[in-house]
Amino acid sequence: MTTDQLKYQGHARVSFRAEDPELTHTGPRTPAGEYFRRHWLPVAMTEQVSETPLALEILGEALVIFKDLSGRIGLLHRQCAHRRASLEYGIVAENGIRCCYHGWLFDIDGTILEVPGEPEGSSIPDTICQGAYPVREYQGLVFAYMGPSDTVPDFPVYDTMDQKGVANEMVPYYIDYPCNWLQVAENPMDPFHSVFLHTRVTRAHFNPAWGEMPVVDWHRMKGDTGIYLTNARMWQNYLWVRTAEVFLPMVAQPPDIYQNPDKEKFFPRVGITKWTVPVNDHACKIIAWRHFNDTLDADGKGDRASVGANKIDFVGQTGVERSYEEGQKMPGDYEAQVSQGSITVHADEHLGHTDYGVARYRAMLKKAIRKVESGGGVAAPSLNDDGTIPTMAGDVIVEASKLDPDDRETRRKLATQIGEIVQSTLGLSEGSRADEIERQVRDLMAPYR
Ligand code: FES
Ligand SMILES: [Fe+2]
Repeated sequence: MTTDQLKYQGHARVSFRAEDPELTHTGPRTPAGEYFRRHWLPVAMTEQVSETPLALEILGEALVIFKDLSGRIGLLHRQCAHRRASLEYGIVAENGIRCCYHGWLFDIDGTILEVPGEPEGSSIPDTICQGAYPVREYQGLVFAYMGPSDTVPDFPVYDTMDQKGVANEMVPYYIDYPCNWLQVAENPMDPFHSVFLHTRVTRAHFNPAWGEMPVVDWHRMKGDTGIYLTNARMWQNYLWVRTAEVFLPMVAQPPDIYQNPDKEKFFPRVGITKWTVPVNDHACKIIAWRHFNDTLDADGKGDRASVGANKIDFVGQTGVERSYEEGQKMPGDYEAQVSQGSITVHADEHLGHTDYGVARYRAMLKKAIRKVESGGGVAAPSLNDDGTIPTMAGDVIVEASKLDPDDRETRRKLATQIGEIVQSTLGLSEGSRADEIERQVRDLMAPYR
């Protein structure tokens, strides 16, 4: 192709293609939708759930969530099983919720307790029910399982959600996005955007270490339950390796979002644990916790008070905190992801080397979706003795003054070995895990100090 053939080619390149429905459509009875429905998903913050019913949409389903007068949380199909009035106008009762239109009373499991206008002995309560889903509350978030009632998986407790011996505060939050779930969920597989979006292009991070180009590798997780990556920068005299993973379908844990590699640190854990939950094909939510503890955010940039409903303590993450013009001057993840379009068209992309993790994540999702579609199950992660799911995300910062910053191959090799050390310590409690990582990393790095 001559360079002239690449000039003024708007007409030839105008988009006419469609999104990939297999990955992006999650409504009822779609392949990805059925796959999502095999997992526990957060649906709301506990503080949103009260005796006034809240209308929700999750995976394209209209739902209502409420707390009944005995304090139990119910998650029901929003339209009443009788003649489809919305239960967002229902009145909560001691047990369940009563539809405003003809007074049918539904328990939180969807069984019908009363049909007051019907003759005594009516068979209706014995033959029909309201759609309902089991819920579980954990640390200020409400999770639901929206799949077949005979395949309820264990509730997932990642080790970062139960850090033994660490005073770890978990502050719940959510963020609404007017775009498809996948373009939000795939962002953590692309750590290169931190160099450009967060640092070189916008200066949003104000920490120049983030603007260094990392050496990144993506690694297989046992059982294909997700992908973990090693992300290695040289900064001053330090080798800074971030490990992070995405568990399928869309659980991600960025390490400390304000990390500053200015001294040795051995495995401070995660700044965020987040789920990207499809609302419908054109909207999604991040529902998550921000973590605060003594090993994170040494420079004190975080702020608990700025974490909650549509807010988080990092610029450019929501559509409500700033004007359009402010977003144009200093765009963040929110502007980058939402502006990809209502549903990003993969056929119009041109992926490069830095997109390897995104491509691999999509391929793994497809495989997992097809497995469920053909009657298979969902791969379950292995568990620690205490029942938690071991995770990899954290930072290792170690002195490496003799490591040549231009020797990317040695850096790559060391980062992979540090990833293996982090992996070898899965299952240890937080304190002894950090000690063991420090011991092994110091041994590994002895020739480079
Ligand atoms: S529509 Fe709900 S009771 Fe009639
Ligand atoms: Fe980002």
